[in-house]
Amino acid sequence: MPAPQKASFAEFLWNREEKTVLGRTGLSWFKITVFYIIFYSCLAAFWSLCLFIFLQTISYKEPRWNTNTGSIIGKNPGLGFRPRPPAERIESTLVMFNEGPGENWGHWVSELTNVTEKYKQVPEKYKKNMKTCNYGDEMEGDDFCVFNIEKLGPKCIKDRNFGYEAGNPCIIVKLNKIFNWRPDVYATSDDLPDNMPESVREVIARDFTEPGSNEINKQNVWITCEGENPNDFENIGKVNYYPHPGMPAYYYPFQNQPGYQSPLVAVEFASVKRGVLLNIECKAWAKNIFHDRKERKGSVHLELMVD
Ligand SMILES: *[C@@H]1O[C@H](CO)[C@@H](O)[C@H](O)[C@H]1NC(C)=O
Repeated sequence: MPAPQKASFAEFLWNREEKTVLGRTGLSWFKITVFYIIFYSCLAAFWSLCLFIFLQTISYKEPRWNTNTGSIIGKNPGLGFRPRPPAERIESTLVMFNEGPGENWGHWVSELTNVTEKYKQVPEKYKKNMKTCNYGDEMEGDDFCVFNIEKLGPKCIKDRNFGYEAGNPCIIVKLNKIFNWRPDVYATSDDLPDNMPESVREVIARDFTEPGSNEINKQNVWITCEGENPNDFENIGKVNYYPHPGMPAYYYPFQNQPGYQSPLVAVEFASVKRGVLLNIECKAWAKNIFHDRKERKGSVHLELMVD
């Protein structure tokens, strides 16, 4: 005859006669515990082994799907600019501020300060690989070329608040790093594409006729920034580049050297029209850089408004 429900459940929890807890004796509980400890240990060991084998096949230095064969990222570098907008408007490309002492430009200057300070603080352990490079140099191993941030002066430096206070702001342009990518530079000024802005062509031509320059000094990824529409074109005023409108080819290829310093170009908008929104497009120029505004390849768009 079955016992009443309550009694049977209590009995299930602790059966005095058979000395079982939840239907198992002490020995039975001991066995099952040992079994599961062994079972899960084996599972963990097997999983660790698989992970270990997998980690043996990857390199921390270079991507597996190497750029030499065309990586997933592709071989056409993107262009980026600083300062970035505040975190709450991260998608925005608008740089807007009031000139003058009100520090309405504080965020932009803080951003640029942070970007440039990083170049001054090279960790001690990387210093032995830091080289001062010249055109034609090739880096080996973990060696990398130093980028002297002071060369963004005299205009685009912290001491001058990057020009924001005075209303002639600087932005900093940078090519995105692609492992093992080398620019195929325009080697002679006749080589330069027709759609390259005249202003920079002139600068390039001048750079190369200066004493001490030679063919090899032309080995740069050229950078240009100009107004997008006819209005912008007029309102943008004078555009200056520091140290010059290009990134020397000796910084490439990037091979994930620890401490690698991306070359920068500071672009100063020296006489922008006040109170109007400017659409600006910056482009990088080399034979193997193609411009695609939609895909954000080889060029970058920003808006600038100085009040
Ligand atoms: C710059 O760095 C400082 C110190 O790390 C930080 O407090 C500040 O928010 C940074 N500025 C920006 C605009 O990110």
